[in-house]
Amino acid sequence: MSTPNRTIFGGLHIFDRELKRDIWRNARFTILLDENTFQHCLPTLISKVEPLQEADFVEVPMGEECKSLEVAAQVWQTLLESGADRNAVIVNLGGGTVCDLGGFVASTYMRGIRHINIPTTLLAMTDAALGGKTAIDFGGVKNSIGHFHPAAVTVVNTPFLDTLPPIEMLNGKIEMVKTALVADETLYNNLVATDGVLHRQVTATARIKNRVVKADPYDRGIRHILNFGHTFGHAIELHANLPHGIAVGLGMKAAMYLSTKKIGLPEEVFNTYSAWLKSQFLPFSLHLSPFNLKDIEQMLPLMRRDKKNADGELRCVLLQAPGATMIDVTVSDNEVRDALLKLFPL
Ligand code: GLY
Repeated sequence: MSTPNRTIFGGLHIFDRELKRDIWRNARFTILLDENTFQHCLPTLISKVEPLQEADFVEVPMGEECKSLEVAAQVWQTLLESGADRNAVIVNLGGGTVCDLGGFVASTYMRGIRHINIPTTLLAMTDAALGGKTAIDFGGVKNSIGHFHPAAVTVVNTPFLDTLPPIEMLNGKIEMVKTALVADETLYNNLVATDGVLHRQVTATARIKNRVVKADPYDRGIRHILNFGHTFGHAIELHANLPHGIAVGLGMKAAMYLSTKKIGLPEEVFNTYSAWLKSQFLPFSLHLSPFNLKDIEQMLPLMRRDKKNADGELRCVLLQAPGATMIDVTVSDNEVRDALLKLFPL
């Protein structure tokens, strides 16, 4: 019987049932977690999923700090010392960083063992924990070392979101809006009309991500649509030191502005999105200030580092209409300057 590549949406009791199947009979589980998930998620998980009651666990540093070669080596060491063999299974209980690290360790330990993702942030439930990308950061470059190594099972359990801070919910919601914007107009309209996030919206977004990944598992073509707003967003994130989702929200605004100029995105779509983004930022003191030309000259090289570029040209995903994208559109430096200068006021 083969190992499933399955996303479970229906609750931890279904995951409990999954782990009682024969294919997991000799599995030895090691749960990777951080301080937050140890406190807020582990007790529920082990009380509801019996096969995990005997699991070992390893705590890793919070956030991006865990995605280092040193932390990966600590986890390899722990696995070796505990006698873990190819039946070992790593269970990632955390946000995208824990899933990236644990997936990477699983892809390399004993030439590859199984792992399970249990994302606990909205961003990870709808994006980072799905799709098989694993990575650590190396040489100062984020996600520079890693494999495509899909999780055997991903468990999307939305009650874990109950303890998530509001800013983290917004980060995730912005990525959900991105996925809907490039693939499903109805979901997009529904998301921007709803306060907060509903379980069915999380499920719908995760299903879209799975569908896109299935069409292009190695990110060579259509999967690029999931990077909408990210060429601008990554540069904004680094330059302005903003959370990922917030920066991507601004990056999408810049990409939509260029889409109105270059490929006929209706202005009203841009205006609706801009108004929605502004309303989402209001409850937070985000210290956003307009970019001047000096900022933009510093951001251009950051954008050129983006992996989608070719032959020294900047390439972006642009939008013709909600649900209709164009990938790898060449964008000039002057167009980037224009879009970033017009980003503010919100
Ligand atoms: N987060 C974009 C992707 O998985 O391709």
